[in-house]
Amino acid sequence: MSGKNPFIKPPKTKLPTKGYSIFLEGMDAPIRVEPGELPYNEPGLPGSLLSTLLAKGIEIDHACGGVCACSTCHILVKKGLDSTNEANDDEEDMLDEAPALTPMSRLACQCVPDGTSDIHLKIPEWNRNMVKEGH
Ligand code: FES
Repeated sequence: MSGKNPFIKPPKTKLPTKGYSIFLEGMDAPIRVEPGELPYNEPGLPGSLLSTLLAKGIEIDHACGGVCACSTCHILVKKGLDSTNEANDDEEDMLDEAPALTPMSRLACQCVPDGTSDIHLKIPEWNRNMVKEGH
């Protein structure tokens, strides 16, 4: 499943205008993200951490196809949360279904960094077997 969820209002997001890095816990090297180089495609909102990481070869579970209708893309944004869009009520409602919710919890498909700071991410352990490093 992918596409748009007709039952939610899309959050306001701002795409990055400068490059930033994603530091994924457990990976040696950061993932560099440059504006303009990403496909900004589904699944997930354009520029979302889900679509960005998938484009970079990092697999993250996304059962609903990135339309804010599950909580399988639950991630923890340990640093850089201020440079992402604020979670709206629809995202918060879905996050309520996620196990071990923390103040750092976001849905990767709804979380869009604006590039003003680097992002430090942790994939929750219950999802970790779903994360595979690409090439
Ligand atoms: S993939 Fe379902 S909410 Fe993000």
